[in-house]
Amino acid sequence: MYKHVLKPVLFLFNPESVHDLFTWTGEFLGKFGITRWVTSFMYGYRLPKGGKDISKTVDGISYRTPILLSAGFDYNGRLSQILPFIGFGGEEVGSVTARPCEGNPKPRLTRLPQSKSIIVNKGLRNEGVDAIIARIKGRRNINIEEKKFVVGISIARTNDEKSAQSVQAGIDDYVYSFKRLNEEGVGDYYTINISCPNAFGGETFAKPELLAQLLPALKVIPCIKPVYIKMPINIAWDHFAQLLKIIDDNKLQGVVIGNLNKDYSWLDVREEAPKEYVGGLSGKPCTHPSTDLIRKTKEMYGNRFTIIGVGGIMSIETAKEKFEAGADLIQLITGMIYEGPGLVSKIARSLE
Ligand SMILES: Cc1cc2nc3c(=O)[nH]c(=O)nc-3n(C[C@H](O)[C@H](O)[C@H](O)COP(=O)(O)O)c2cc1C
Repeated sequence: MYKHVLKPVLFLFNPESVHDLFTWTGEFLGKFGITRWVTSFMYGYRLPKGGKDISKTVDGISYRTPILLSAGFDYNGRLSQILPFIGFGGEEVGSVTARPCEGNPKPRLTRLPQSKSIIVNKGLRNEGVDAIIARIKGRRNINIEEKKFVVGISIARTNDEKSAQSVQAGIDDYVYSFKRLNEEGVGDYYTINISCPNAFGGETFAKPELLAQLLPALKVIPCIKPVYIKMPINIAWDHFAQLLKIIDDNKLQGVVIGNLNKDYSWLDVREEAPKEYVGGLSGKPCTHPSTDLIRKTKEMYGNRFTIIGVGGIMSIETAKEKFEAGADLIQLITGMIYEGPGLVSKIARSLE
């Protein structure tokens, strides 16, 4: 239905408009019992009688399925009432920032269908942490088969000149969002996004010396939830390992590996993309680099870190590769856009 009927029509329209339409539709479907039931009937995942339970407890949080919607799709936290009904065990809302962000100038999204990728140049568009806290607090939790739907929150530095003025201004910006979320008790876990490739001033906090300043500033804030770091995937292993060491020293629970791919040579059809870099690549170009970094992290640290594997999960096989490389949980976005929402339950069933 999605791949052969809906997708060819949707792909005729601007990706950001289609995304807005999906968000609006998803929010509407999540409002009523009957629309949730129909969605679940079409795309849901049900534990079969006598089947193997695929739920997982990670850092004390129980996930009905170990598959999450990755940060960037539900950036304003509107979809937590419907996502459990298409097989997701959780989602990462955001990235949220201290102040609202309009995002970068359009086009913010460009499809590259032959390479099964999207050029993402969103620039952290979101309504700001306070508005998103208010929205999430106003919602009731969704439970299916007695499992709560997990809502993690991704936090990034505001995409503006003010937060990029100095290292301290950047740290203060992260601290504000982290503090507000903890004060309000909103979010089941937090991910600190240090690797957005399209923000004002660049990925400053992916520099080891700056991450080593940011994490102690966050540690001062009382937090009883797990905290993860969203890692870049275009850096050399030495640099990546330095970041892991700092995360270990600061006793954070884990890493999300990883963010968008900045290297256009990973495209199957290079000609599909503009000659110059205009945004990070999602989807297939992320599959191999992220899996490789997950494997290396697991080899180096064993079970020390929770690893959330994300990047180019387009099929059952690529999902399994992430788990085999060492991921405890997986996240996806682009696979769902190219293969349809049915991909989530398909992966869930394959895990049984
Ligand atoms: C439209 C879009 C927006 C994104 N925005 C964010 C974001 O705000 N924060 C973040 O940490 N990652 C963001 N990402 C990166 C994704 O979370 C994910 O790391 C990346 O897309 C690779 O996964 P995928 O191949 O399954 O899409 C975004 C990705 C897409 C496609």
